[in-house]
Amino acid sequence: MGSAVSPADGARAEPESLLDVLARRGLPRVVRSVRYHRPRGPFCGVGDCTGCLVRADGRPNVRACRLPYSPTLRLGRGNGWPSDAFDLLAGFDVAYPHGIDTLHGFRRPAWARGLYQRVVRRLAGYSAAPAVSVGQGPLPDPIVRDAEVVVIGAGAEGRAAADRLAERGIRSVVLDRRSAALPSDRWELIAGATASFLPPPAAGVRPYTVLAVREPGTGVLVRARAVIVATGSYDAALGFEGNDRPGVVAADLGLRWARDGRRSPLRRAVVVGGGTRAAEVVERLGRSVAAVIAPGEIGPDVVARASAVGAALYPRSLLLRALGRRRVRAVELRPRGRDGRMAVPCDGIVLAQRRLPHGQLLAQAGARTVWDPGRNGTVAQAGPRGATTVAGLFVAGSAGPTGAGGAAVRGADAADAAAEGAAPFAPTPGGTAPPPGDLEGYYRELLREPRRGKWVACPCEDVLLDEVERASADGYTGIEVVKRYTGLGTGLCQGRYCLPEAAIVLGLLERRPPSEVGSITPRPPAVPASLAALAALAPECAGEAVVE
Ligand code: FES
Repeated sequence: MGSAVSPADGARAEPESLLDVLARRGLPRVVRSVRYHRPRGPFCGVGDCTGCLVRADGRPNVRACRLPYSPTLRLGRGNGWPSDAFDLLAGFDVAYPHGIDTLHGFRRPAWARGLYQRVVRRLAGYSAAPAVSVGQGPLPDPIVRDAEVVVIGAGAEGRAAADRLAERGIRSVVLDRRSAALPSDRWELIAGATASFLPPPAAGVRPYTVLAVREPGTGVLVRARAVIVATGSYDAALGFEGNDRPGVVAADLGLRWARDGRRSPLRRAVVVGGGTRAAEVVERLGRSVAAVIAPGEIGPDVVARASAVGAALYPRSLLLRALGRRRVRAVELRPRGRDGRMAVPCDGIVLAQRRLPHGQLLAQAGARTVWDPGRNGTVAQAGPRGATTVAGLFVAGSAGPTGAGGAAVRGADAADAAAEGAAPFAPTPGGTAPPPGDLEGYYRELLREPRRGKWVACPCEDVLLDEVERASADGYTGIEVVKRYTGLGTGLCQGRYCLPEAAIVLGLLERRPPSEVGSITPRPPAVPASLAALAALAPECAGEAVVE
């Protein structure tokens, strides 16, 4: 369930999405943020954020980057009022520079509470309820399968796993969220289906039940003896003031917009990162790159490619803020440990500083995870052939741990382990405390900088860093408690983009390593699903743990 679109990664060329078409006319800005009604643009390009939600043919919160374009599509108003382009509710963004305290405010005078509630309701949320009634027709037919092994992700590792299983005479079903994933005659592919729920195994012959959603309204259920998670990795976010401005994008999206020599809406971008991912982005974006900024050193590959296109280099620099209101106009930065701030004009910021595993399903199924200071994120613990700490649950490829720079488990290895019923991984208890990650020092310095505008700690729910800092100062500790108090990490991305950064920042606020602030179990559904699709699955789920 990765982002790539090349045949080499197990997919045909994807059909043009609505977002691709909108991007031809310039930077798309299709949604307003959920509390302050700040203009938002697409961030990830792979269907995980909330930056491209549109109302399409009466259905709210459809992700434009996953919606195949059709000239007959009818786009409606999202959450802006009176319109998304001219949104009077954006006045709240100006009126509350440090955030709206909805826990303690809006209570007095008592006679005005009804009015407050109407205002707050109008502010919150992404769109109105669906215009299409789904409650009167027959329930849609679900897709239900029983298999020996279910493989989640039809990228290179997932395909290798399914191929190896076929060689061993084991029947597998492969789920992939890309509609363009390539089928095979050796195993069954269910394409366009986002696996959203993988509960811990219950006792029985087939201990796993995977629930997925095929947008717009088909439920998918696969029961299997074992699961191989090969969901790949994604480009992480980075915290700074103005980090939610349209034009701030993950490398996944920057690369997508510039694929096949297309004209990207980013014509003068700043690339953030100094490693192999940044080198890939600079290579693809070419002369559209104005500068490369890195929290640490910039690798020789990036230097060579940036020099070839005349891009300026700023190693060991703090990205202080994105300037511009309706879209990024410049970035302000300064060298780490020194004065000398400067502004670099640009129309976009492409974040390519690190990739993190898509390990949410593993965590949901109960696999033990740890903070990896090398990747500055949480990863599932796994053995050399991909066995996790849960029986029958395996991980392959970049969705799992890579060790100290070592290769990730190949799909074929994980398939062999699953076929042979390999025992769960038993990590050695104890060990030395992990060294601090390289981003901790970066954020420590950045947090000391005075802030003039909003640093949005959780873009899905519009939770500000100010609110997280206040919660911490008020004695709320640990990421689970801060989540419950502020709403951080509870949005549609299920914390993919905000939690790794929040763990580092909270660690600094609480003066302990990020590994000790805890983590949050991701919750389904990750994609909009109609109740009818879920209701159609209900008889299939009878007696399963998923309906507890
Ligand atoms: S850009 Fe479409 S979900 Fe992130």
